[in-house]
Amino acid sequence: MDISVKYLGLDLKNPIIIGSSGLTNSVNRIKELEKNGAAAVVLKSLFEEQISMEQNHIANQDQHNYPEFQDYVKFYTEGKNLNNYLDIIKDSKKSIDIPIIASINCVSSNEWVSFAKNIETAGADAIELNISLLPSNFDLDSSENEKIYFKIIEKVKQNVNIPIALKMSYYSAGLANLIQKLSWTQNIDSFVLFNRFYNPDIDIDKKEVISSSKPGNSDDIYTSLRWVALLSDTIELPLVASTGIHDSKDVIKQILAGAQAVQIVSSIYKKGGSYISIILEEIENWMKKNNYSKLSDFRGLLNQKKSENHSVYERIQFMKYFSDKNNI
Ligand SMILES: Cc1cc2nc3c(=O)[nH]c(=O)nc-3n(C[C@H](O)[C@H](O)[C@H](O)COP(=O)(O)O)c2cc1C
Repeated sequence: MDISVKYLGLDLKNPIIIGSSGLTNSVNRIKELEKNGAAAVVLKSLFEEQISMEQNHIANQDQHNYPEFQDYVKFYTEGKNLNNYLDIIKDSKKSIDIPIIASINCVSSNEWVSFAKNIETAGADAIELNISLLPSNFDLDSSENEKIYFKIIEKVKQNVNIPIALKMSYYSAGLANLIQKLSWTQNIDSFVLFNRFYNPDIDIDKKEVISSSKPGNSDDIYTSLRWVALLSDTIELPLVASTGIHDSKDVIKQILAGAQAVQIVSSIYKKGGSYISIILEEIENWMKKNNYSKLSDFRGLLNQKKSENHSVYERIQFMKYFSDKNNI
């Protein structure tokens, strides 16, 4: 059974990538994930603000030599400064065989982009840019918002030679068109669809805005599944599915929809690293049962173009569902 995958020019032994999170923030944790079968990891993200702040701190130390400023910088970057990040990359590359993908959370193409070169020099196999834009600015129309994606990937590409993955948000009035145009730029090598968002919630007893702390589950898969299926036959870059992939069935669904590989986070938090090997074993069993010997035998079999019911992925109204008496 061959479950290997080519992704970002790298040879992955299987389609399971552990997504950016606290699961990947130390060499020991990554080693454990590798031992359990992970094919690659995406490091916990550095935030653009962290990079800019530390760069400015170094550049402007003399100008801001007052205690509050120093304390603020120390507080903000403590334990997660840029050198620590680069050390995790360097140390991982010495003792770990699976690809190490660095990750940066960004919303602008400001001076932080020059730091991408340091990530490459430290030995990262690729960079994932998490550009999660919430179009909440009343002064920006959709095309102005979308220009931000193009600017960032262009600037980062000018700084590095390693492959670049773009992890996106689904907030766009013209998502399919946006992804297609981004794929034509030649500045990126793959898409990760989509980021899992932090969500605010409201506590009705305390009448306070709080952070939604519901753990993710398989029901979260549908947005990504729909878009992977809609795009995979048309977009020429590989699509990696992310969010709501919690078991072997979810992985198989995403590959049937056309995903090249998947990223998993919440289920590994819940069940531990050893769950990766269970997922892999179940995928292989399913493939045996269905007489598939490699992932490409069934990849995209149920994407929008190949599935018998073309319109189902475009349907967003429930009319047909509710017109069936059994569903009421
Ligand atoms: C605790 C936690 C921390 C995360 N931190 C990051 C991060 O630093 N950068 C990032 O791009 N995504 C981050 N994510 C999102 C994951 O990389 C991934 O996109 C998402 O969680 C996948 O969905 P799943 O949790 O349903 O598997 C985080 C997710 C969780 C649950």
